[in-house]
Parts: sequence; structure tokens; C-alpha cells
Amino acid sequence: MPKKYYIETYGCQMNVADSEVVASVLSDAGYAPAGSIGEADIILVNTCSIRENAEQRVWGRLDLFRAQKKKRPQVIVGVLGCMAERLKEKLLESDKMVDMVVGPDAYRDLPMLVETAVSGHAAVNVLLSREETYADISPVRLESNGVSAFISIMRGCNNMCAYCVVPYVRGAERSRDPETIVQEAREVFEQGYREVTLLGQNVNSYSWAGSTPIGFAGLLEMVASVDPGLRVRYSTSHPKDLSDDVLEVMAGHDNICRHIHLPVQSGSSSVLKRMNRKYTREWYLDRITSINRILPGCALSTDIIAGFCGETEEEHQETLSLMREVGFDFAYMFKYSERPGTKASRHMKDDVPDEVKTRRLNEIIALQNELSSVSKKADIGRILEVLVEGPAKKPIGAMMGRTSGNKVVVFQASDVRPGEYVQVKVTRATSATLIGNLV
Ligand code: 5AD
Ligand code: SF4
Repeated sequence: MPKKYYIETYGCQMNVADSEVVASVLSDAGYAPAGSIGEADIILVNTCSIRENAEQRVWGRLDLFRAQKKKRPQVIVGVLGCMAERLKEKLLESDKMVDMVVGPDAYRDLPMLVETAVSGHAAVNVLLSREETYADISPVRLESNGVSAFISIMRGCNNMCAYCVVPYVRGAERSRDPETIVQEAREVFEQGYREVTLLGQNVNSYSWAGSTPIGFAGLLEMVASVDPGLRVRYSTSHPKDLSDDVLEVMAGHDNICRHIHLPVQSGSSSVLKRMNRKYTREWYLDRITSINRILPGCALSTDIIAGFCGETEEEHQETLSLMREVGFDFAYMFKYSERPGTKASRHMKDDVPDEVKTRRLNEIIALQNELSSVSKKADIGRILEVLVEGPAKKPIGAMMGRTSGNKVVVFQASDVRPGEYVQVKVTRATSATLIGNLV
């Protein structure tokens, strides 16, 4: 009987894609996926360090895994990803009974590390690489809906935003060979997938120096040309690097989704400067003007941090006013959380009191709820193309899918299948979804 592994994933889409690489490496080495934690010989948790509470959640899971290990001492528990990279051997020294610590660039080494752990030795590889992109590894799609797939196009980050732990835990930026990216897109399309999301910390700085150098605009064009029936999304863009040539490529291909995730973090130029974001409020708004000119109706989403070091009430108000000015369709909103080792933790004071951070975050969330509602109401009466993903959670019998602008649509249908494109007339909107009828 092959040994079985179970993998749990926390954090961003990049981590989801990484877990698929891990599954591929382990399958190639003869391991099989386990249906549940209880039947796994190897329990893996792919972790996130972006905020303190992301790590807290993983510590909670490790308590549960420790209970498994008390029942079945031969089980191997491995911590993978960003927290493994940040805490290194400290994880082995904790009381959580961790056997294996594997950083995000060491997944090829997993079969060897598992053997080391089985033989009772400490199994650690947290070396970061300047080259590793896992370009040749065909990910095993985990928990996939069979319709949309993630494709990692680059790893690491060179940006050094003052608040962010990513460059320390994921290493320097490197781009993946475009031929392997296009090949992966072709393969998933042939397997029936109808949407790919190209992933990187800062996709706009994608750069491949082959005989013909390729930037992100060129790569996007190549992937969009795989098939007009394959939707293409990408995440995440950095406002400082989002150029008009990318927007022009989008305008030239209907299958590139009309949605841009453009994290602003703050609407105040002085906060942006302290954050080392390398753009101003005016620059960001100019990018939005270009998007609206070249891609009218393109959906916009963002990330916002409330209560960064030294943030004044006026600076917070500038974030609210920028949100209104842009009218984001969607946002991920966070309270600033100091991360050890970052520039902010070394040189700035985390001086906004927690209750002020919470109040500002709540104001940001309340405003975004209004903006999201305006955005959804604007779709009522429209006929939108929806890529069907599967059955809706409710009501029973309904199907769900997404628009090009990334809005979830629920509709009644008996004879549509996941992966089909349908036209839906939107009749109403709830806080999270659009409701409509097939036309
Ligand atoms: N505190 C709060 N939010 C953070 N983010 C990154 N680092 C921190 C931090 N230290 C947010 C940013 C980023 C998103 C992925 O997480 O908004 O875009
Ligand atoms: Fe993803 Fe950043 Fe969390 Fe790592 S720390 S999993 S890169 S969000």
C-alpha cells in the first residue's frame, strides 16, 4: 500500500498553486492522496505569514495534528511554505511535534525529507532559490471545480513594501519560462478547464530574457491566444508597474477577463511613501483613468490596510475618498499587523492604537459594502456572459458561475454543465451575488 499524504492550504492563491506542485512531487514519488487526516501517513500544512492572525490559525491546526500524532506516533507532520521559511528550526523546537519544515523553494526535496523524517531525524530545507520556478512540474489540481485552474508564472518579490514579509519568505523575484506556461494553459484547456488565472506577486514585472525577451503584455497575449474559449485572469498587479500595453492587450482579447486587482493599500501619498509603495495617490488615479479609457466597464478590486505606522485621521480620510473616487467593485481590507523582520518593524513605530485601527477598518468596510452594492445594482437588468462553475450552495437545484468582471451569478438551470458559457439576465442582487435567469 502506498503511503498517503493529506495537505491543507492557507493563505493566497499562490499557495493553492504551490500545494498542487507538492501533490505532483509526492505522487511522482509514489505517495497517494488521503481522503481525510485520519487516514494520512503524512500530514502537511501549507502556511501563510502575511498577518499575525494567519499564523495563529496555523498554530491552532498544529494543535489538532499533535493530537493525531499522539494517537498514531508514526504519522509525519510537515509545515510548508511561508511560515516554515520565516520560523525555520523554531518550528521543530516548538511543542507542536512538527517533523518536517519545508520552505517554498524546497518542494522537489520533499520525498527525501519525508524519508529523513520517517527515520527519526530532523527534516528541514528552507533554502531559497534564485532560479526555482517548478516550470517542468505538472501540478495535480486539488479541490478543483474542473473549470478554473491557477498557473504560477513567477515566484518571489523584489518590491520591499515596508509592511510586507513576502520578500523574506519567498525570496527574490524570478519568472517562469513562457513556453511552459503556455503549454500548461493548453493542457488544462484540453482537459476541459475554461479559465486560467496567471499568478505572481507582481505579474507586471514578469520578464523572460530569451532570444526574444517577453514581458507580461507579451505573455498575456500568448496565453489568451491558446483558445478564444479559454478565459484568462491574472493577479496581482502592482500600480507602479501596470502599463498601458497590458491594458491594450486586454482590449484586443475578449477572453481576457475585464477585471483588474490593483492593490492600493492607502489613498494617502504620505502613507504610500512610508509604505515604500513607489507611487502616489495621483499616479494610482491616473492608472484608473487609463483603465476606464482603454477598458470601459472593467471591474476593479483592491487591497487596503488600515492603521499603518503613523497614519493620521486625515490620511485615513484620504483612503475613504480614494475608494469613493474609484468606486471599487470589491476589496480585501485589513488592519495593519506588524511582521517581524520587515522594514516597518525595524524602523517605524506601530503607533496607531488597536481600537483606532479597528474603527478605521470598520469605516473602510462599511464604505466598501456601499460601493459593492452600487456595483451589483448597476448589473440589474443586464445580460451577462457567465462561465458555469457548478451547483450553487443555495437554492437547491440552482447553478453558479462568474462574469468576466468576477461577480458570482446564481441562476436556475437543469441542463447546463460546468465549463459552459451561458447568458444570464440579472434580476436582483444580494450582498454577495447576482441572481438571474438564463436567456
Ligand atoms: N498587515 C496587514 N496587511 C498586510 N498585507 C500585507 N502585509 C500586511 C501586514 N503586515 C496585505 C496587503 C497585501 C495583502 C495580500 O495583504 O494589503 O496586498
Ligand atoms: Fe501568500 Fe504572502 Fe501568505 Fe505567503 S505570506 S502565503 S505569499 S499571502
